[in-house]
Amino acid sequence: MHISTALAAVLLSACTAAAAATCSPGSRPLPFPAGELSKDQFTAKGRRYRVHLPKSYDPTRRAPVILSYHGAHGTIEKQVALDGLTDPSRSNRDGDGYVVVYLQALVPAGASDPTKTEWQVAPAAAADKAHIDDLGFTADVLAALEASLCVDTRRLYATGKSQGGGFVGRVLACDTSSSSGLAHRFAAFAPVAGAYYILDTPRRAQCEPTDRVAIPCGGGGAREEGTPATPILAFHGGADETIPYRGEWRRATGSCLPDIRHWARQWVLPSSSASSSATAEKNTTIPGSRHGVRSAWGGSGGPGKDGEEEEAARVVLVYAGDDIGHDWPSTAENADNKGGPRAAFNASDEIVDWFGKWRLE
Ligand SMILES: *[C@@H]1O[C@H](CO)[C@@H](O)[C@H](O)[C@H]1NC(C)=O
Ligand SMILES: *[C@@H]1O[C@H](CO)[C@@H](O)[C@H](O)[C@H]1NC(C)=O
Repeated sequence: MHISTALAAVLLSACTAAAAATCSPGSRPLPFPAGELSKDQFTAKGRRYRVHLPKSYDPTRRAPVILSYHGAHGTIEKQVALDGLTDPSRSNRDGDGYVVVYLQALVPAGASDPTKTEWQVAPAAAADKAHIDDLGFTADVLAALEASLCVDTRRLYATGKSQGGGFVGRVLACDTSSSSGLAHRFAAFAPVAGAYYILDTPRRAQCEPTDRVAIPCGGGGAREEGTPATPILAFHGGADETIPYRGEWRRATGSCLPDIRHWARQWVLPSSSASSSATAEKNTTIPGSRHGVRSAWGGSGGPGKDGEEEEAARVVLVYAGDDIGHDWPSTAENADNKGGPRAAFNASDEIVDWFGKWRLE
């Protein structure tokens, strides 16, 4: 009797929780066909995006959402092929139940190359404030999704490649200026080969050494004492010649690319305000790679292993290997690694696993 009473109480509370996790049936007709990429969608300001609903999408159940940002010169369609998040042949199938949304960058005014789409993180796009507001674009896309789909607003995630990764890891994740900052709406971030530009560094001495340069970020040093930043998982190759792992100063644009490890460490709680387990670094080598290593900070769990009593690390930097270039790491051939060395792991699979660990309270 006691057991069944307890069970009934558990079932009752489960039902109450489930009610909050659903949307009323009928109120939200399917705006896109499930299991395929939607046609072009446009925000009120004319920005283009496309949505992939998983086959399992149920308009009465709240679904998690991944935003994916392509690289410079890129398009939505290139990013769909590169991240493979919606590819049914990928090891985690059917988008793993995620709604995946692809956003299209613009070409900044005055660009000499009319095909060079860029995100607000990079010098030319950041300077074109009259036309380019990618944070506003992101907010508009989220609003449109929440209006037309049954979205789990506690499970919004963002990933991206190169400038798209830079936008995620240097702009979106840093948008903590006010309580309405977009960074607070995401449960986790996962940039790949990110271009984490620091602007307004016309002199070399303002950038070098690149592993010391101050990273102006609302989510980093300036965050409230003791408040951990949003969990972040970043990937970078040691042979990346486009966005070097060790960083570099760019004279032509007066911009600075920080050392990647240095950039990642900003997300770790300052040791003054955290227990040693929250700041300790844990390295795990990546089998089959050339000196590839996962460095994890915070949490008692190892990187990628989420034991039941263990809290997962909140900050993970995956150094993909000495021979990995400006790539979306994959064991299979993709547009980035074609003809060159391939990674010993699939970044997309890790990203999906990582996102699955985090949700907003
Ligand atoms: C990586 O993904 C590809 C499919 O895109 C798959 O063939 C391969 O087995 C995966 N590799 C690993 C290590 O899971
Ligand atoms: C982890 O690996 C990185 C890169 O090889 C190295 O710089 C760092 O010192 C290592 N940390 C520990 C705690 O071993």
